This record gives sequence, structure tokens and C-alpha cells, in this order.
Amino acid sequence: MCQDNTYKNLFNGNWVTSKKTIDIFSPVNNSLVGKIPTMSFDEVNAVIANSKNSQRSWADIPISSRASILHKCATLLDDNIDYLSNIMQREIAKDKYSCDAEIMRTADFIRFTADAGKHLEGETIGADNFPGFKKNKISFVSKVPVGIVLAITPFNYPINLPASKIAPALIGGNSVIFKPSTQGAISALHLVALFHAAGVPPGVINTITGKGSELGDYLVTHKDINFINFTGSSKVGKHIAVIAGMVPMIMELGGKDAAIVLPDADIRSASKDIVAGAFSYSGQRCTAVKRVIVVNTIADKLISELLKNIKLLKVGNPEDGCEITPLIDNKSADYVQELIDDAISHGANLLCGNKRTNNLIYPTLFDNVTTDMRLAWEEPFGPVLPVIRVENVDQAVKIANCSEYGLQSSVYTKNIDDAFNIANQLEVGTVQINNKPERGPDHFPFSGTKSSGMGTQGIRYSIEAMTRSKATVLLINP
Ligand code: NAP
Ligand code: G3H
Repeated sequence: MCQDNTYKNLFNGNWVTSKKTIDIFSPVNNSLVGKIPTMSFDEVNAVIANSKNSQRSWADIPISSRASILHKCATLLDDNIDYLSNIMQREIAKDKYSCDAEIMRTADFIRFTADAGKHLEGETIGADNFPGFKKNKISFVSKVPVGIVLAITPFNYPINLPASKIAPALIGGNSVIFKPSTQGAISALHLVALFHAAGVPPGVINTITGKGSELGDYLVTHKDINFINFTGSSKVGKHIAVIAGMVPMIMELGGKDAAIVLPDADIRSASKDIVAGAFSYSGQRCTAVKRVIVVNTIADKLISELLKNIKLLKVGNPEDGCEITPLIDNKSADYVQELIDDAISHGANLLCGNKRTNNLIYPTLFDNVTTDMRLAWEEPFGPVLPVIRVENVDQAVKIANCSEYGLQSSVYTKNIDDAFNIANQLEVGTVQINNKPERGPDHFPFSGTKSSGMGTQGIRYSIEAMTRSKATVLLINP
């Protein structure tokens, strides 16, 4: 899959090059991690035709055999943690602990998916359940693949997010065309190499690398793509949803998750949890805590605890066990800096941070962030946390819901009735009670409202989304 530091794409079971390549540099120290191919439109066409041909025979393979292949892949992941983790640390500057955890979690995800797939069962329905019909008609409903699933993923989870699309698609009998983010593609191609080594037949997974801005529109509008499973920014996701037409899709997009803290919350444990939620992988998670909304009476106490926990965060390089590592690129760091500068110019109270060395931004905390500041609404995807003070719970819920996003929210309180009352009002995919926003465990449903996406992921939900119910109706002659 790699020759002279140039990686190749998997096409019909072979690793192939393209004429043009893209250099991938490390966000840690700007060293060259490797080169990846830029596929031409002709090559993309060949990939799609091959995926179409390969899908039918894959669908004919018994589910239990497909599951065995996935189990093998999970074992290979477990066997290669150190190797993969080193590549990820260099390519996306994620800390070692989180890289290792992502790979182990992915192996578990694939195994669980293999087992869940064994419950992919149809049903028979008698017509006489419906008024006016007799017992002489039966619908045999089976679960069949949708066809070719196009999986497009972001940079921040280059192993877990691809696997969360590829494994459920495969167990459902689909072929997969996988386009990883450009930064992150080297890690992602290693994952694909393990699916290949585990015995996924030629053409059942093919990869396409190249810039999304050049190839993306062509790919998502191709007539032979049967399902688009996209994770990334709301901007790109909405664009795809507009141009792709009548193709079923799952969209996992951006977020502005709020942590709502009530006066009776356990402040010490809430603040510890909020800091972990906001700053792990330097805030580059869709589910990061991206704003704290706190009732005034408890705000000073919470802020002092938040500061204590932020001071414990280690800033530096991924291999040194630091939580705060360089952001994915300078452009992203510039954007975070813009939001910091805007908050300062509008009178927010800077409590720590606002220190930067190239793309490394130190953890930054603001008090008294108000709704006229960009930081109150925009997703920084970086280590900056705004605290918004409110008078009461109603105001907290109102501000939480005013967001264009609706991924997750957390509510910190000891009163379970209050927690559920607030949860019922929050317009998000998931509400966490006394817990930071997070996707896992990965068999839970995971979805977003508004600009945070559409459709539901989570092992069983993903398999269901990427299969369809096909009915064959028998008329029994009397
Ligand atoms: P991004 O810029 O939107 O890129 C995501 C993917 O889309 C990449 O593979 C990119 O390719 C590709 N792409 C770009 N333009 C395209 C087009 N016109 N057609 C098809 N594909 C195209 O996102 P990112 O910066 O990598 O990731 C950060 C964002 O993802 C954040 O907003 C975060 O909240 C969101 N995210 C959401 C979830 C969730 O589960 N809700 C999970 C993780 C991340 P290139 O890399 O080649 O540009
Ligand atoms: O970035 C988005 C990921 O899907 C979130 O997963 O909550 O486990 O970090 P996580």
C-alpha cells in the first residue's frame, strides 16, 4: 500500500497509484508524513463501476461469513495498536492515549457490528391484519443491501469514524467506496488495509483519495451511488444534501454542545467532566463541550473549579501524553484566534489562555460571554470555552436552543425531575445527565437535529439505515 512514502488506493483488491499526489505534512512539526494519490475523474469512474460489480457477489455471501471477516479485522486492529497509533499521532496530532483508545474502541465496534448483523432478520406479515383483507395474502419482508455506500469522513477520528460506516455497510451486504479526509487519509488507508487483509473480497471496499473540493461534487452526484454516509462540517454536509438529489443519506455534522449547570449540581465533579469534555484532543471533537451555561448563583464557584482543572492540562506534543496538542492546521488555529479576539473586543472576561505558538493554542477560558459574541454561537473546533451566565433555568434552555446546532447537551443537577424536565425541552439528538457529551458507547443511537445532521448512527441504527426492507407478496389461491 505504500512505496517510497507514497500511499496507494485500494482498487479491486490491488493497491494502485495515480499520476498526481498530495503531500501530507504533520501538524506537530511540519515533517512529511507521506504522499497520497489524487484520483482523476476517469479513475473515480472505474472505481464506481468496480464497486457496482462486486456488490452482488458480496451480498450473496452468508451474513455469518461476512461477520467472520469483520471479526478477523477487529483482531488485526488489536494486534496493530502501537503501529497505527504512531501514524495517527503524527498525521493528526492526537495524543497517544486518545489514539490508542480510538483503535481499541474501533476493534470493539467492528466485533459488535459483526454480531449485531447476525440479527438482520426479515418478517412475514399477513394481509388480514388490515381491514378488508383476508388470510390469502402474505408479505415476505427481507432486509437487503442498498448497494454502493459512499463513506466520507473528517480528519478528527480517521480510524473510528470510517469503521463506523464501513463495518455496518459491509455486514448489510453493501460495497463501500471510502473517501477519507485528505489530512488523516494515511491513517484511514491503514484501516482499509486491515479490512483487506481480513479477507474482504476485491472491489467490496475501494478507496478514493484526493481533495474533497475537487472530487467531492462529482462523487456525491454520481448516478451509481446508492447511499451517502457523511461526517464533517455542517457547511460541506449541507452542500452535499443540496446537490446529491434523491439519494438516502446520513449526515453527522457540527455541534455547539452546551453544558447547563444548575445551582444544586456537584460542582467539583461537573467542572472536572466539563474540562475533559471541552479540551480533550484540543476541542476537535463534534461532541466537545463548546459552551457552558451556568445559573449566576453558582457561576463563581464553577469558574474557579474549571480554572483549577484547566491548569492540570498538559500542553505540547501528542507523544508526550499532552491533552492540548497542535490543531490540525494553521487555518483552523487562525479561526479559533478570530473567535477569541472577537470575544475580547466585545468585553468577555479572559480567565486563561489566549496564548498561541503557530497552530498550538493554549486552553482558553472566558467568563461573561454574551449572546452578541461569535463565541456564543460558532463552533471553534479548538481549545476555547465560553461561560455564559444566566439568571435561571428557563433562560439557560432558551439560549441552548437558540443555536443553529442540535447535537448534544449536558445537564448537571442532583434533581432528577429537573434533569428530565430540561432534557424534554432541549432540541438535540442526545441529552446527557451529569455526564459530558459523547458519542459512545457506540451501540447507543447518535444523531443531531438542525445543522447537526440527519439520520441516526449507532451500530444497529447504522445497519438498519444502510439496508432496506424488500417485500415479496404471495397471493394464495383459495
Ligand atoms: P470537512 O471540511 O467538512 O471535511 C469532511 C470531509 O468532506 C473530508 O473528507 C473532505 O475532504 C470532504 N469534502 C470536502 N468538500 C467536499 C465536497 N464538496 N463533497 C464531498 N466531500 C467533501 O470537515 P473536517 O474539517 O474534516 O471535520 C471537522 C468537522 O466535522 C466539524 O464541524 C465537526 O463538528 C464535524 N464532525 C462531526 C461529527 C459528528 O458525528 N456529528 C464527527 C466528527 C466531526 P478533504 O479532506 O479532502 O477536504
Ligand atoms: O467528533 C465526533 C465524534 O464522533 C465524537 O466521538 O464523543 O467519542 O469523541 P466522541
